[in-house]
Amino acid sequence: PQPKKVVNDPFFLVSEEMKSLVKNIGALIGSGHPTLNRVASYYFESRGKNVRPLIVLLISKSLSEIPQEERTRISVDSSDINDQKEYRGVSSTMSFAGADPEHSITPLKILYGINPKMILNPLSKPFEQSAAVKRMDEQNGILPRQRRLAEITEIIHTSSLLHDDVIDIADSRRGRPSGNIAFTNKMSILAGDFLLARASVALSRLRNNEVTELMSTAIANLVEGEFMQLKNTVFQPKVSEVINGGEVKRVPEPTGRVPMKVPEYTLQQPVSISHEENVQAAFEYYLHKTYLKTASLMSKSARSAAVLSGCNDEMIDHCYNFGRNLGLCFQIVDDMLDYTTNEDVLGKPAGADLKLGLATAPVLFAWQIKPEIGPLIARKFSAPHDVEIARTAVVEAGGVSKTKKLAEKYRDAALEHLRCLPESDARSALEFLTNAVVTRNK
Ligand code: FPP
Ligand code: FPP
Ligand code: MG
Ligand code: MG
Repeated sequence: PQPKKVVNDPFFLVSEEMKSLVKNIGALIGSGHPTLNRVASYYFESRGKNVRPLIVLLISKSLSEIPQEERTRISVDSSDINDQKEYRGVSSTMSFAGADPEHSITPLKILYGINPKMILNPLSKPFEQSAAVKRMDEQNGILPRQRRLAEITEIIHTSSLLHDDVIDIADSRRGRPSGNIAFTNKMSILAGDFLLARASVALSRLRNNEVTELMSTAIANLVEGEFMQLKNTVFQPKVSEVINGGEVKRVPEPTGRVPMKVPEYTLQQPVSISHEENVQAAFEYYLHKTYLKTASLMSKSARSAAVLSGCNDEMIDHCYNFGRNLGLCFQIVDDMLDYTTNEDVLGKPAGADLKLGLATAPVLFAWQIKPEIGPLIARKFSAPHDVEIARTAVVEAGGVSKTKKLAEKYRDAALEHLRCLPESDARSALEFLTNAVVTRNK
């Protein structure tokens, strides 16, 4: 019997595109070196959930419901994306692409001297736009360029995973040994760099400066987010401030799942503020980091899909904000699952964040009502039993369910922006996917 058609299944509407995705990625990442080929293609061999390309394709399809004569904002020349032909650039003004405008920044700036505006938007020049609009080549409502964008997004994501697993000293990914274990750190890093380079080539061939800038900024944001995480300790003194017996002592970075030695230094809070302000600042830091490391790629690829479709600025902003809120929701759920699930289900290490010294939402909620957890966060759970104590505090404080509530807040915001897209099966599929992000268990 024929399998029943499930209209809301996100994969169903773009299943052809998802099938060719993996094949096309294969063509984009081939190299002359067989070992490099093996490492670079390794994570693509076992299926991830492909959530990013799914978003790009479904947004593209949703926006194709808008009549073509209303989709005139940008121009995409109609030459084949694989060719090197020059396009005619026409300059125009447009708001910048990089920033996440609504993020509150005051405590960040005051406490840590970080200006997120700088982090988010290093580029503020207007974009160039290209020539006449042609959208005759839409198939299933999706342009070849949008399909390529989906591939590029997944390649960038995968490249960051290769690097991430080195940084996190992970031992598994997508149910297999992670790249660092299967091949070595060196090869993983190089393969990640190679993937990034190939994604950049493909990006430039989209011949759309605005999209190039968006996606390049997303790559920069991934690194910035990872740096914020590396330095996620709100209290950690700068290296030069750590004086031990007259000598400057380096504060060790977390060394992964191996318990690290307790650094000997006195904690110096940069500014003396109340517990509540401290917690608030830590949450802002956490959410900002989360935007950079996860929501940025989702929001900027969603925005890029909308740019390529040619719809108006307002619609482009809705797509961006949908991706942003979905991305925040997605990572907050990811951080929750680290507390609630196990490696067999996840296909990657669970219970890893505390061991890595990372204070994510569940433990921040615990700290909110148990100030005594503060010093543990400050020393990155490095003293004996810190991890167990923190875990118990999370349970006692209901940290997991509070984290879920936080994720639901972002889910709801994502859905609100989604409702501004034209009504269609593709939009219903995105709605389904957005809800599934919260209820997922892996
Ligand atoms: C993991 O991405 C991606 C997910 C866990 C996808 C979550 C989304 C859903 C479960 C909803 C999707 C769709 C359906 C059909 C229900 P990752 O970045 O953590 O790693 P990955 O690329 O290895 O999956
Ligand atoms: C997964 O987070 C990692 C990321 C979302 C981004 C990692 C980014 C870098 C390592 C910067 C380098 C970037 C590029 C583009 C080469 P996680 O460790 O919390 O999740 P996990 O449980 O899936 O490992
Ligand atoms: Mg990791
Ligand atoms: Mg990581």
